[in-house]
This record gives sequence, C-alpha cells and structure tokens, in this order.
Amino acid sequence: KLYTWVNKDTCIACGACGSTAPELYDYDDEGLAEVIFEDDGNQGLTPIPKDLHEDMYDARDGCPTDSICVQESPFA
Ligand code: F3S
Repeated sequence: KLYTWVNKDTCIACGACGSTAPELYDYDDEGLAEVIFEDDGNQGLTPIPKDLHEDMYDARDGCPTDSICVQESPFA
C-alpha cells in the first residue's frame, strides 16, 4: 500500500499539486497543501488506491520544494 503526506513546513503554496491530483490534495486557508483524500486531514494514514497512484507520483514529481511525500507505510 502507498500513503502520502504533505510537509507543510516546506510547502510554498505554489498550487501545483491540487491541479495535478485534485482528488488527493487541496489547500488550507493559507494556501498550503494537504491530503484531503477520504478526510485524511493530512495525517498520511489513508491508503491511496492504485488508480490514483499515477496522479500522486505526478504531483510529487511536480512539487518544486519536494514537499509531497509518498511511502509504503502510514506516516504516523
Ligand atoms: Fe505546496 Fe508543492 Fe503543492 S509547494 S502547493 S506541496 S506542489
């Protein structure tokens, strides 16, 4: 399984990820990205289904500050 999480400490609110993978990432009131899939609340605890992996990797690869993290275990 794969999990994703946004490091808000390094996100610069560039706005790319939510365009690339709108089902996975959206923005908080300050424009910082967060994982919204299935109400994850940017905890990185929600397994991401296979049909969204391509979008997830595209978003990760497109983030200018490498703030989008993907790993095979939950983030917390
Ligand atoms: Fe932030 Fe990177 Fe998305 S800078 S808005 S996490 S593409």
